Amino acid sequence: MTSHPDLLVGFSTGDDAAVYRVRDDLCLVLTVDFFPPIVDDPFDYGAIAVANSLSDVYAMGGTPILGLNIVCFPVGLPHTILHEILRGGAAVAQEAGVLIAGGHTIDDTEPKYGLAVTGVVEPGRHVTNASAKEGDRLVLTKPLGTGIITTAAKQGVAEPALLQRAVAIMKALNREAAQAMTSVGASACTDITGFGLIGHLNAMMTASKVTARLDLSRIPVIEGTWELARKGVVPGGTRRNLESVGALTRWHSDISENARLVLCDAQTSGGLLISVPGEKLEALRTELRARGVDHTVIGQVVARADIPVVVDP
Ligand code: CO
Ligand code: CO
Ligand code: CO
Repeated sequence: MTSHPDLLVGFSTGDDAAVYRVRDDLCLVLTVDFFPPIVDDPFDYGAIAVANSLSDVYAMGGTPILGLNIVCFPVGLPHTILHEILRGGAAVAQEAGVLIAGGHTIDDTEPKYGLAVTGVVEPGRHVTNASAKEGDRLVLTKPLGTGIITTAAKQGVAEPALLQRAVAIMKALNREAAQAMTSVGASACTDITGFGLIGHLNAMMTASKVTARLDLSRIPVIEGTWELARKGVVPGGTRRNLESVGALTRWHSDISENARLVLCDAQTSGGLLISVPGEKLEALRTELRARGVDHTVIGQVVARADIPVVVDP
């Protein structure tokens, strides 16, 4: 395992980004993310990929400043598609105040796009996933369901309005949520992406050596997701997520298989999951509201039980 006195966050806690101290008053926050198209529209795909890449820096309480494009693109496809992907990415980067300063493209059978991101944070002000505390409350800033909805769209069974809603959620930056979090001071944070809510929560609780109790009834889900799940429209990654959290999660027996799948749905550019001390919860909510960030209190952190995550109905 790589270790160095200036590597404040590395591999060991499965965190969202590396944090490296370059000076006494400055840390770099470094991350990379890229993936194949999850929606047909190339502009939206590019925009979502960049919002998703920047999110790992926001989840660390950092400010992204610079990005480098990572592009895989088939030589046989029209170049206009690639231009649209990059235009979508550039639009979100500009919104975030991030400069895209270069990149690298290779030929590949399937397009892939994302960013290597450099951000900054003051030493000691970064927020890891390994410091959630007993008594914290868990706040989630985007609803779940984007994996199920984009899978439905690929199968041609998603209502256009539902897909639009999911795209808007995935394009939304986690910047304001992160600013609210750092202004109040959270215990821990991660963003919800491919491993789903339960997978990322498991990682956070395991790294922090505490247990989370969630209330299913409180967890925000994009309207229309439940109906698709009932029809069996569920991505393979979501099913694998549910299998892999099996031994780490105690589901109340009233919780259906569909609900378990929705809570494990593989997200792209999902929200921040913030673990905040109980006495700071109202201050966080006030800051989130002031910045127009929808959010929900989905559960709490308790002393470490035999298992990292317990889900109540
Ligand atoms: Co992440
Ligand atoms: Co990531
Ligand atoms: Co190169």
